[in-house]
Amino acid sequence: MLKRILTAAVGLAAMSAGALAQGYPTRPITMIVPFAAGGPTDVIARIVGDHMSRTLGQQVVVENVAGAGGTTGIIRGAQAAPDGYTIMMGHMGTHGAAPALYPGLKYDPAKSFDPIGLAAGTPIVIVARKDFPAADFKGFLDYAKQNDSKLNQAQAGVGSVSHSTGVLFNSVVGIKPTLVAYRGTGPALNDLMSGQVDFMTDQIVNVAPQISGGTIKAYAIATPERSPALPDVPTTKEAGLPGYEVSAWNAVFAPKGLPKDINAKLVEALRAALADSTTRKRLVDLGGVVPDASGQGPEALQKLVESEVARWTPVLKGAGAGN
Ligand code: MLT
Repeated sequence: MLKRILTAAVGLAAMSAGALAQGYPTRPITMIVPFAAGGPTDVIARIVGDHMSRTLGQQVVVENVAGAGGTTGIIRGAQAAPDGYTIMMGHMGTHGAAPALYPGLKYDPAKSFDPIGLAAGTPIVIVARKDFPAADFKGFLDYAKQNDSKLNQAQAGVGSVSHSTGVLFNSVVGIKPTLVAYRGTGPALNDLMSGQVDFMTDQIVNVAPQISGGTIKAYAIATPERSPALPDVPTTKEAGLPGYEVSAWNAVFAPKGLPKDINAKLVEALRAALADSTTRKRLVDLGGVVPDASGQGPEALQKLVESEVARWTPVLKGAGAGN
């Protein structure tokens, strides 16, 4: 008798999950962006979320939950119900650097999530206020080495991309500027444009328009090749700092344990967004790098997260940023 009840219960559960997935989604989906509106993570989330809404048939609504280098929002996402109605945009900071910088972090980047897929690679650009007293990257490095105690470096909180790539930059160059924390590099960029801070290392999708518009200076891009979006910005290697090559990425995650059909619908919606020519153009025009088919999807993202955590932990501890 008990066996029959249990079998029926399991059957009902499976049916309800299946029924749940069949109708999914029946209401808007929240995409947590763990930084302030207007920054690179927010921009990428809104671009891919816009197209995902069309495939899913329900609005993907961005909710900005900033704080603690992005970990506050990601913790919120990790603890959400795994029902497909809460997803999040994480990145190399929240899902690569954070474990080295937050002892007792309330999530494990490689275990607490259903990885949905990579959204975009984001090269790192070294940018400064437009009146920074250096005409080129060599001049910037020389000035920074002579005056680092007077320099203010913007970043989006311990463990963020701008923080971890900034700490690495300072370690490679041998400077100790004052780190100024913001709730995202959107607000940081405003202060850079108004000259309140001196420089930062930021994701290209945030700063490309301002560089092209001349409201901030770009000294170098930390990728092996120049970006088509910023053809006049030299690579760090060309400009004399070959030891600083670093790139970030942004990716979609869901809390661990989604019903399989719901997981598949989210994976498909992201894949469709990255196949859409308009969506791709919006990302590429900002300097984003759209992953090819082999770089998309859950398996590739899981491998990326595992390799990034392994990579960034010793780098940040070596740069004196780790615990
Ligand atoms: C960062 O990690 O620096 C963030 O991506 C900044 C942001 O998105 O505002």
